[in-house]
Amino acid sequence: MSKIHRIGVMTAGGDCPGLNAVIRAVAKTAMSKHAIDVIGIEDGFLGLIQNRMRPLNNESVSNILTLGGTILGTNNKVSPRQYPVNVNGTFETRDVTDRCLEHIAHNQLDALVVIGGDGTMAMTSDFVRLGINCIGVPKTIDNDLWGTDVTFGFATAVSIATDALDRVHTTAASHHRAMVVEVMGRNAGWIALYAGMASGADVILIPEIPFDIHTICQYVTDRSRRGKRFSIICVSEGARPQGGLQVVSRIVPNSHQPARLGGIGQKVAEEVEAATGTETRTITLGHVQRGGTPVAADRVLATEFGGKAIELLSAGERSRLVVMKDGKVTHIPLQDAEGKQRLILPDNPLVKAARNIGTCFGD
Ligand code: F6P
Repeated sequence: MSKIHRIGVMTAGGDCPGLNAVIRAVAKTAMSKHAIDVIGIEDGFLGLIQNRMRPLNNESVSNILTLGGTILGTNNKVSPRQYPVNVNGTFETRDVTDRCLEHIAHNQLDALVVIGGDGTMAMTSDFVRLGINCIGVPKTIDNDLWGTDVTFGFATAVSIATDALDRVHTTAASHHRAMVVEVMGRNAGWIALYAGMASGADVILIPEIPFDIHTICQYVTDRSRRGKRFSIICVSEGARPQGGLQVVSRIVPNSHQPARLGGIGQKVAEEVEAATGTETRTITLGHVQRGGTPVAADRVLATEFGGKAIELLSAGERSRLVVMKDGKVTHIPLQDAEGKQRLILPDNPLVKAARNIGTCFGD
C-alpha cells in the first residue's frame, strides 16, 4: 500500500455544527503527526469539479473549533454524475466525473477525506469504485446515516430545538394555546424524538409513525378536560398522516435530491385549532438548528472522527467510513452505507419510554 503524502478534505451536503472541528482535527493530525499535506477543497464536490482548492496550514485551522458552518464552504445540490450545464439558455446535465479525476491527479491528492451525509457518501462511493482512496466522516443534524450510532451536529440541533420547545412551553401555558413546533430531520424523526422527549412535548410526530389527526385532537381535548389547557406538539418536517404524503415546501432545481420538506406543522396546527377550538400557533425552527457553535459533545465527536480518518489512512486503510458503534469510534466499508438511511424502528426504546409516560405519537 503506497504511503499517503497529500490529501484533499471537503465538506459536502448541508452544513452542520462541528464541520470546522473535523477539518481542524483532520489537518492537525495529518500535518503534525504524519507529515501529510492537506488541501482544502471548496464547496464540496462543486470545488472538485471546478478545481477550487487551497492548502491548509496550522494558521488556517486555528481558532475554528467552536465556529459554526464550514471554512471550506459546502454545496448540497451538485453531483459529479449530473452536473448542470447551460446549453443555449437551457440546463442539461452532464457527467463530469472524469473532470474530478483529472483534478485529483493534477493536485497530486493521494486520498480524499469527505465529510458528509448519505447523499455525499453515495457520491464518494462512486469515486471509490473508480480507484480513489476515500475516507468518509459522517455528518448531519438528521442523525440518519446508516452504519453509525450517531453523527456529529445532531446533539447541537437537539439542544437548539429543546431550548426552543422549552421557551414555547411557558408562552403556550400562559395563553392556553396549542403550540406546534416543526423541526428538521428529513425522513428521520431523531431530532423530533430527542428534543420532544427532552422538553416534555405532549405530542411527538415523526415520519416513521404516520399519524391520525383525530387521535391528536382527542389528546389535546382530553388534556384540556383534565385542566391542562395547553399542548406542545413537536412535529418532524417529514411527518405525514396515515395514508397521506409528506409536505414538500420547495423543489430545488438541478439538485440531486430536489425535494425540501416543510409545512406539515402549519397543517397540523390548522386542523387542531379547527377540531378542538384551542387557539394554535406554529413555529418552524428551520436552519437555526444548523447554525452557530457546536455543543461540547459535537466538538469532541468531531475531533475524534477527524483524527480517526487520518489514523485510518496512515494505517493503510482505504474506502472506510468512520463510525461510532456501541460507544467506540471505529470504521466500516464506505460502500456499506450507500443508499440506506438509519430510521427510527417501531420498537425503539425511546419511543417506548415516551409512550410509557403518556406521550402521544398520533397513532
Ligand atoms: O439534511 C439536513 C437538512 O437540514 C434537513 O434536515 C433538511 O430537510 C434539509 O437539510 C434542508 O435543506 P436546505 O438547506 O437545502 O434547505
